[in-house]
Amino acid sequence: MSPFLHQRPLHTPSSDPYELSPRSRHQKPAASLLSRGPALLLLLLSLLIIVGVLFPYLQSPISLLSFNSRSSDPKWRGYTLHDAAAYVAKNNTLIVCAVSEAYLPFLNNWLISIARQKQQDKVLVIAEDYATLYKVNERWPGHAVLVPPALEAAAAHKFGSQGFFNFTARRPRHLLQILELGYNVMYNDVDMVWLADPFSYLKGEHDVYFMDDMAYVKPLNHSHDLPPPGKKGRTYICSCMIYLRPTTGAKLLMKKWIDELQDQPWSRAKKANDQPAFNWALNKTSGQVDVYLLPQNAFPTGGLYFKNKTWVQETKGMHVIIHNNYIIGFEKKIKRFRDYGLWLVDDHASESPLGKL
Ligand SMILES: *[C@@H]1O[C@H](CO)[C@@H](O)[C@H](O)[C@H]1NC(C)=O
Ligand SMILES: *[C@@H]1O[C@H](CO)[C@@H](O)[C@H](O)[C@H]1NC(C)=O
Ligand SMILES: *[C@@H]1O[C@H](CO)[C@@H](O)[C@H](O)[C@H]1NC(C)=O
Ligand SMILES: *[C@@H]1O[C@H](CO)[C@@H](O)[C@H](O)[C@H]1NC(C)=O
Ligand SMILES: *[C@@H]1O[C@H](CO)[C@@H](O)[C@H](O)[C@H]1NC(C)=O
Repeated sequence: MSPFLHQRPLHTPSSDPYELSPRSRHQKPAASLLSRGPALLLLLLSLLIIVGVLFPYLQSPISLLSFNSRSSDPKWRGYTLHDAAAYVAKNNTLIVCAVSEAYLPFLNNWLISIARQKQQDKVLVIAEDYATLYKVNERWPGHAVLVPPALEAAAAHKFGSQGFFNFTARRPRHLLQILELGYNVMYNDVDMVWLADPFSYLKGEHDVYFMDDMAYVKPLNHSHDLPPPGKKGRTYICSCMIYLRPTTGAKLLMKKWIDELQDQPWSRAKKANDQPAFNWALNKTSGQVDVYLLPQNAFPTGGLYFKNKTWVQETKGMHVIIHNNYIIGFEKKIKRFRDYGLWLVDDHASESPLGKL
């Protein structure tokens, strides 16, 4: 994989290491060489043939895509999930989020926290609109992909709206596709902040790992099984943070989740999001999928972390990922992150692979 891809795109011809085209500034020296005799001509021709034959195989698809072009180039439209996953995955593992343009500040905040754990190289941003695709890839080539169709920007980010439901309803499809490609995948909502590296908490070889969204305090040694159903007859597992291995069980769970979303579509009355469907899928596949509930002290719901200071004090130093949920509204979420010193983009944007947005 070419190291230059980890830097910002190179626009000036003089610094572009891939400027091999005959139209380039190499043309003049080549022409004068040609005039010096057939031996040199032959040498040059064979060099060109070697480069022409080997170049496509030596380069990853991504470096061909960004060849001599700006990252906002419509070529990113042809960048597939298959290409992106192959380029970004490390240890066969991806960290994935799905964002629309309005959420870019949250994306950056989340990325800073991941960069602090040195896991940012595995991050693949599933862009829900072209603005996000271009913006991320312009600053961080290859780390964003758009799985068509793109969503209508205005509708996509209002919690409880049909646009929001459509936005989250695509999650299990993206995840299933990544599993079918053979990768481990960690999905995160971007209103999360990592305080430590979660990977060492993914113990054993289970199909799926997740966290409970219930706010009541559990004993430190609570079970790692699926909890018993709550008041609504189902569990309250968070669809905000899911780690999946590319196993039959994990794929089955994603398929069931897709089915459940189709069976219980959005309605204004229910203001549904995708989480109930995920919990019904867990219920209906139980016994067929090997699940692991992550420890509450490390992966608390926002309903606990932001609401119970006593608990936060008691479990100090154990927290791994903080989720800014149990609150509605973009500005309120930002304010709460600020109040808790978790809004990192104001002072630490330089730590993000995207820089200051
Ligand atoms: C890949 O996994 C190995 C062993 O689990 C670990 O030591 C290494 O740090 C991982 N590499 C990356 C890039 O995460
Ligand atoms: C959401 O998806 C449904 C069904 O695919 C579609 O009819 C509707 O127009 C979409 N709404 C929004 C706001 O994206
Ligand atoms: C947790 O610890 C308590 C007291 O030490 C014990 O009674 C209980 O069985 C343990 N629970 C689990 C799930 O191990
Ligand atoms: C699945 O849901 C039903 C209905 O709420 C419940 O009776 C059953 O115990 C649940 N199964 C599991 C494994 O949680
Ligand atoms: C807050 O946390 C403390 C300490 O863990 C616990 O005893 C208490 O019940 C919690 N309060 C609420 C309202 O859940």
